[in-house]
Amino acid sequence: MRKNIVAGNWKMNKTIDEGVQLVQEIKKLLSEKSNLSTQVIINPPFTHLSTLKKEISNSAIKIGAQNCSYESSGAYTGEVSVSMLKSIEIDYVIIGHSERRAYFNETDELLLKKLNLVLESGLLPIFCCGEVLSQRDSGIHFEVVRQQIENTVFKLSADKFNKVIIAYEPVWAIGTGRTATSQQAQEMHKYIRNIITEKFGASLASEISILYGGSCNAQNAKELFANPDVDGGLIGGASLKATDFVQIVSSF
Ligand code: 13P
Repeated sequence: MRKNIVAGNWKMNKTIDEGVQLVQEIKKLLSEKSNLSTQVIINPPFTHLSTLKKEISNSAIKIGAQNCSYESSGAYTGEVSVSMLKSIEIDYVIIGHSERRAYFNETDELLLKKLNLVLESGLLPIFCCGEVLSQRDSGIHFEVVRQQIENTVFKLSADKFNKVIIAYEPVWAIGTGRTATSQQAQEMHKYIRNIITEKFGASLASEISILYGGSCNAQNAKELFANPDVDGGLIGGASLKATDFVQIVSSF
């Protein structure tokens, strides 16, 4: 179901003690807000998941992983399977972040395997897509994002696709301080919703949450989230500071 979502992607940051402290601060600040209907998701490193899952047990915050294996079990040293995540009652998994695609050679084919495993186990994927700067500069950004989506989430059944959260993260905006303008974000989100309409119909398209990610912060979140097709954000740097993160959560 479409809802407003703000998800923090901590990436490879915070020790366990720092992570616990950050979650406690976020919980406290959120408890001071009334009438918040935004779904808050925190995606810490694997090592923190169990502890932070307990930490958020009496709150509306959900916990997600940043990645999972494309295999279900076996001799894959260093990997973490979807069933392991399921066994500690994790709700969400980020799939296809541009850093995974760029530094760990994750291909569309592999991401589709992950998506199927995640959905079959009842977890919810936050699927990332987005173009690099040279692609934006040469005007092929819509085509790039369409390809990423067609090769992965569009290969799912409508039943499964229905559960996917999409995060549009232009790579040139990630960690650069150069956010997409409100217009650029809306234009791409609308494009994504249009291609979903073509593929699965308007009713399903209207039910999908599409998040924006890339230098989204406490100052620009309100303007970005005011767009009709922007349903929230996937937040990197600004999710590491409780006051900034909660300000973003309150930006609807
Ligand atoms: P920043 O918010 O640090 O630009 O990172 C965005 C991101 O990659 C979230 O997944």
